[in-house]
Amino acid sequence: MQNKDNKAAAAHSWSRYWADGKGVTCYTGAQGFSLEKIWKSFFASLPKGAHILDLATGNGAVAHLACQYSDTENKNFHVTGVDYAAIRTQPRAGLVFHPQTSIETLPFDAQSFDAVISQYGFEYAAIEAATAEAGRVLKAGGAMRLLIHAQNGAVVTDAQTRLARLRAALLDNGLLSDIKTMAALEVKKGPQKARRLNHYKKLAQHCDQVLPDVGAHLQGADGGDSALKLTRFLLTLWAHRDDYVPDDVLAKAIEVETEAASYVMRLEAMNHAAQSQKDMDKLVQGFKAVGVVCEKPVLIGSEGKGSQPVLAWCVDGKRTVGRE
Ligand SMILES: C[S@@+](CC[C@H](N)C(=O)[O-])C[C@H]1O[C@@H](n2cnc3c(N)ncnc32)[C@H](O)[C@@H]1O
Repeated sequence: MQNKDNKAAAAHSWSRYWADGKGVTCYTGAQGFSLEKIWKSFFASLPKGAHILDLATGNGAVAHLACQYSDTENKNFHVTGVDYAAIRTQPRAGLVFHPQTSIETLPFDAQSFDAVISQYGFEYAAIEAATAEAGRVLKAGGAMRLLIHAQNGAVVTDAQTRLARLRAALLDNGLLSDIKTMAALEVKKGPQKARRLNHYKKLAQHCDQVLPDVGAHLQGADGGDSALKLTRFLLTLWAHRDDYVPDDVLAKAIEVETEAASYVMRLEAMNHAAQSQKDMDKLVQGFKAVGVVCEKPVLIGSEGKGSQPVLAWCVDGKRTVGRE
């Protein structure tokens, strides 16, 4: 379980991710499978005027989808999205967001939602507490659908590849740290100039040694790949450093370092969040204990598609009617 500081750091890292207002979910790789369909079939099963809670909503990809569906099908849904990160998205009628809100401690009355949903979010939280809260806020007879990262699924495999690329191109070879240190040495003034120059020379030599392999480490990266973007940015910055004042070069190198650390944290969290069959059995038991009866979780993404990789677990549940 995350301690308080780790949790705050993770929330901060997600806030950075959503800060540019992107609405898409974390995984946008080619997959030939529509998550939209999965959600629309669920929304179709809900009554008119349903109150829907989207847990770990991010910038509200699924919350917005629910509103679109509601508009098209005249469902008059009331959608609420909760995330512990800062949420950056367009307001719309029928949609309310609660940023900086943990799904382990929801600020809602018991039995206030007809449906609880989550897409690649629920599993990042402390599962026991989040399960109890989901059960608490669901109305008797209310429905639940969770899409959950699957161990060895396409989303997680893609994240592992991206993480390995970043580590190989920028981190493990010391390139980012060397450039940042050289930038700091260019800023420094005062005594011990010879020592600084010696240190600088050694770092520059090391960079010259590792640079020829960087291209190979980035092979297979698409244009949006963070490892590719950060490496390109850093190397261009360094090549043109004479065009900037040294303080700015250092500030930008530190920014790359912060962004890289944030990216590593998110992708590691995704790996950690991915659930096995055994985890899912435990999850179903946990929901049962709080009055939510789940169907057997199914792996989605691969149905009838031969070698198509699985994407996620889909868990459907219903809050039992005869509750206290
Ligand atoms: C992979 S993103 C998915 C976001 C969104 N559901 C989507 O499909 O685009 C995971 C989200 O879970 C949120 N999250 C992780 N742990 C959380 C917690 N304990 N409470 C609330 N939000 C959490 C993160 O801030 C992040 O926005």
